[in-house]
Amino acid sequence: MSDLPNPLRHGLRIGRTPEPCTVVIFGASGDLTSRKLVPALYNLARERRLPGGFSVVGFARRPWDDAQFRQVLLDGVNANSRSGAVETELWASFAEGIHYQPGSFDDPSAYARLAERLAELDQRRGTGGNRVFYLATPPEAYPDIIRQLGAHGLNQSPHGGWTRIIIEKPFGRDLASAQALNQQVLAVFEEPQVYRIDHYLGKETVQNIMVFRFANGIFEPLWDRRSVDHVQITVAENLGVEDRGGYYDHSGALRDMIQNHLMQLLALVAMEPPVSYDADAVRDEKVKVLRAIRRIRPEEVATYTVRGQYDAGSLSGRPLPGYRDERGVDPASQTETYIGLKLFVENWRWAGVPFYLRSGKALPRRVSEIAIQFKTVPTMLFAETPMHDIEPNVLAIKLQPDEGITLKFGSKVPGQPQIRPVTMDFRYGTSFGVASPEAYERLLLDCMLGDSTLFTRRDEVEASWSLITPIHQGWLASPAQPFPNYEAGSWGPTSADEFMARDGRTWRRL
Ligand SMILES: NC(=O)c1ccc[n+]([C@@H]2O[C@H](COP(=O)([O-])OP(=O)(O)OC[C@H]3O[C@@H](n4cnc5c(N)ncnc54)[C@H](OP(=O)(O)O)[C@@H]3O)[C@@H](O)[C@H]2O)c1
Repeated sequence: MSDLPNPLRHGLRIGRTPEPCTVVIFGASGDLTSRKLVPALYNLARERRLPGGFSVVGFARRPWDDAQFRQVLLDGVNANSRSGAVETELWASFAEGIHYQPGSFDDPSAYARLAERLAELDQRRGTGGNRVFYLATPPEAYPDIIRQLGAHGLNQSPHGGWTRIIIEKPFGRDLASAQALNQQVLAVFEEPQVYRIDHYLGKETVQNIMVFRFANGIFEPLWDRRSVDHVQITVAENLGVEDRGGYYDHSGALRDMIQNHLMQLLALVAMEPPVSYDADAVRDEKVKVLRAIRRIRPEEVATYTVRGQYDAGSLSGRPLPGYRDERGVDPASQTETYIGLKLFVENWRWAGVPFYLRSGKALPRRVSEIAIQFKTVPTMLFAETPMHDIEPNVLAIKLQPDEGITLKFGSKVPGQPQIRPVTMDFRYGTSFGVASPEAYERLLLDCMLGDSTLFTRRDEVEASWSLITPIHQGWLASPAQPFPNYEAGSWGPTSADEFMARDGRTWRRL
């Protein structure tokens, strides 16, 4: 055990470089690889965060060779990297480590060839048997790949190196399938080798929730049922389903957004201070929050949830077809593209404080934020201003865009006997003047460093699904909604406003 003080041992984790290793990407010819993963790796290389000998092996069906694969990735980086066009010399040295292994996920001989290639890279590039397997594939492929990795001894490293596996979302589609997948994974890998990714946790602004709460003394004493009226968590998208209609129609907003991203945000906002900033201590506290959330029973869905599906409309001045007319979507689809949800965290800190979650597609703006609304003053001192004219204090943590934190409070209008809301603003861009790294940069680096703090543990995933699955069951059993029920480009169905109005509250206007 190191005798360094806690913040240095666990906390800042600045500037560490991983040991030499190979990242094997299953699904290497897909969208995620070109759009996110390889641009992230390239930017890590640009910032000198990757180890010498760092290598990538792409695995997919297309019969490419190394040169073709490198060209596809180069195009992907040029189109998607936050740092703009590729630096030629840097790319040349980065691309030397990139290889492609064609094969089908269910073909054992492809894994035998992969094992040979990895052994060869260990020798030639000094990667020491250290491997990350990244499952960037359709979720149906996960069990096959995991089984084959085990069957070919690729779940453990030769030469005393390490092996880790990153699993993309969706991790299951209900509690039973998530449990089954966990069993399949853990029959081959040990839990500390497993990195279930939720890219929201890699966002700087999301990591800052913990810093904001636990590195500052002033807010934490207010962070409970005595001072907080309610919390609103919003993730709004100003896009339809684009070309993912086929996938989305079997998923919906509850599974695609709430089960993972919004539940993780809720857990970070509501958790107790962990005993240290290490992976299990943080995840222990998050899972306690998830377990403390009162489960919505199937027969209660009408009280605690509201759902919607978008109709034709316009987004940013462009027409958008209705959800049911999107490619890959059932014309009679009952899949929700909007959800509002009320949850209660039943513990001493939060009893009685509602957490409202909402997420939807085809809304007017792309915006994610967490708003803590505080209780109003108990009595009004300023007789000229009626109580109902006073707006409550709100602390808004803006995750995207305009990343920052805003505190709203009442102020006297100069020269007039009136009180108006004003804000104190912190903006990342203004305060730090540097672009934040992409979530995937941080998460890939953390995995190579063996730090799973920002990845989801088995019990967290299952705790979250155990809340989500009964809601789905309730929806299946309840009469069909009059879908579609909101116009693309509006803020969701009117039933969502009525849902809040029943509690005497309103959704924040964003
Ligand atoms: N795209 C995103 O922005 C995004 C964001 C978050 C999470 N994800 C998750 O990431 C995963 C991948 O998404 P994606 O959008 O990249 O998918 P995608 O574009 O459909 O790519 C799928 C990849 O899997 C390969 N593949 C499929 N079946 C195969 C088989 N039997 N044998 C070998 N290779 C096979 C395909 O290779 P060939 O085409 O060469 O056969 C392709 O490389 C999904 O789980 C998704 O939910 C994606």
